Amino acid sequence: MRVKIAVLPGDGIGPEVVKQAIKVINVLSKKFHHQVEIKEGIVGGAAIDKFGDPLPEETWKICEESDSILLGAVGGPKWDNLPGDKRPEKALLKLRSGFNLFANLRPISIFDELIFSSPIKEEYLKGVDFIIVRELTGGLYFGKPKETRIENGEEIAIDTMIYRTSEIRRIAHVAFKMAQKRKKKVTSVDKANILECSRLWRKIVEEVAKEYPDVALEHMYVDNCAMQIVRNPKQFDVILTENTFGDILSDEAAVITGSIGMLPSASLGETKKGLYEPIHGSAPDIAGQNVANPIATILSVALMFRYSFDLEEEAKLIEKSVRKVLSLGYFTKDLYANNPYAQKMVTTEEMGDLICSVIEGGA
Ligand SMILES: NC(=O)c1ccc[n+]([C@@H]2O[C@H](COP(=O)([O-])OP(=O)(O)OC[C@H]3O[C@@H](n4cnc5c(N)ncnc54)[C@H](O)[C@@H]3O)[C@@H](O)[C@H]2O)c1
Repeated sequence: MRVKIAVLPGDGIGPEVVKQAIKVINVLSKKFHHQVEIKEGIVGGAAIDKFGDPLPEETWKICEESDSILLGAVGGPKWDNLPGDKRPEKALLKLRSGFNLFANLRPISIFDELIFSSPIKEEYLKGVDFIIVRELTGGLYFGKPKETRIENGEEIAIDTMIYRTSEIRRIAHVAFKMAQKRKKKVTSVDKANILECSRLWRKIVEEVAKEYPDVALEHMYVDNCAMQIVRNPKQFDVILTENTFGDILSDEAAVITGSIGMLPSASLGETKKGLYEPIHGSAPDIAGQNVANPIATILSVALMFRYSFDLEEEAKLIEKSVRKVLSLGYFTKDLYANNPYAQKMVTTEEMGDLICSVIEGGA
């Protein structure tokens, strides 16, 4: 297969972890005889410093001409005081809305070797494997009016939650299709006892569900779901939810895995082009020290091969190789202390090399 990947390392630890992901892409493409062309673009704070714009035209063009996009992380204290539309994070919003990436996928699975670092007891965690499908381009974050104004002598702030039938329908299809390839269960999360948007959400999700008779559908209120994620996370297969609820629940779900450096994400639209990135930020506190965990970014490459290129065998090999390296007792600094499985602490570069060598030899 011949593919073009846009790689946007970004700020802080972004370039360090992305470098390891590029190594993995190169090893994998050699092994499976794929022709992968990688083009790097500048994004986030680094792009503000150079071009005064978090997503310069040149970077946009690289992404536009590529089949898929891999991003490290953006942001850092240097740019914290800039106004909202000039901040590094603006680049992410522009990429998501510019390519109409309306579906954010966040797989939540547990590595046995990392259960020790989770705040949840082992018996509730073993075997947890679900995915959150979050609507990413609608709802409260984008609805208008969105403003602060003076009314009757006091300041008031307004955000607006809007959902259109078409927005709900297309994200519901993503969730049901995903469930068909998994354990065939969708939990649709809303607040239909209070919100009009949620009542429409529920109605449309039920309509879409009729097209997938092999998938079981349940509805859950968001407050209950927040509780169930810590009480009994094994019950979930695919959680389908709107933008704001998904933002909060996906961070909660990430925490139960005990390791922010391990979790990948994918943002997809109607086409095969996706934006793949680790869920963590630019970690300025450890940047430049060769200690960051590159696994979330490497697992994001696995998602890219799965969802953008339909190369399941390659995706699985990356995931199995990561598991193999952990099972051998190699951990980066974030996961080393008090880890009963740890044999050796490795650097960012060493972790990348270990995963590559397992891929080369077969996991
Ligand atoms: N998608 C993104 O690019 C994204 C996401 C979240 C935050 N940010 C930005 O990143 C900056 C820092 O934000 P933050 O500190 O709230 O979150 P963060 O995720 O960068 O860091 C939180 C903590 O986790 C640690 N950590 C994160 N990733 C790690 C990894 N791969 N290996 C080892 N340890 C890791 C950090 O050292 C830190 O202690 C901010 O400017 C924020 O706006 C960017």
